[in-house]
Amino acid sequence: MSNNDQQLRVSKIQNGTVIDHIAGGQALNVLAILGIDGTSGDSVSVAMNMPSDRLGHKDVVKVEGRELSQDEVDVLSLIAPAATINIIRDYDVVEKGRVERPSVVEGVLECPNHNCITTEDEPVDSRFAVGDDGVRCEYCDTIIRDDLPAHILAE
Ligand code: CTP
Ligand code: ZN
Repeated sequence: MSNNDQQLRVSKIQNGTVIDHIAGGQALNVLAILGIDGTSGDSVSVAMNMPSDRLGHKDVVKVEGRELSQDEVDVLSLIAPAATINIIRDYDVVEKGRVERPSVVEGVLECPNHNCITTEDEPVDSRFAVGDDGVRCEYCDTIIRDDLPAHILAE
């Protein structure tokens, strides 16, 4: 199969966002972060374990008709640090950016400690400091190392 045929495996989108260079195997976690479960009717294509020069294998997620919020990109950076965010308008890539690991994520993740002030009926947003091996609650020091998508606050 020629390289061109391979690129046609997932078609181009007209408007929306292409999240490229996701580490192989993380695409479903990316969908979880974006709250995509297939029920909203939005067109989404996912390619998993595509050959990549840079990563060996990569996943790609294409979301038609949607541009991502900075909060979403911040959480994505935690599980897909090499990802490229391409904004597509009228079939053209009009913006291409790398994700950046923020030093803090606020109001996005839920602290797993049920006694934490951020999980009680107080108007206190969660705040996690981003470290090399996980994120740490700034209120109770609980660390989340794995499975960040499972700790995303429902909207
Ligand atoms: N893409 C798409 N629909 C479009 C335009 C681009 O799905 N209308 C996808 C491409 O398939 C690619 C990504 O968006 O996965 C980035 O496109 P482009 O910048 O043209 O590709 P590259 O130059 O290969 O990107 P990079 O240098 O970031 O690897
Ligand atoms: Zn906490």
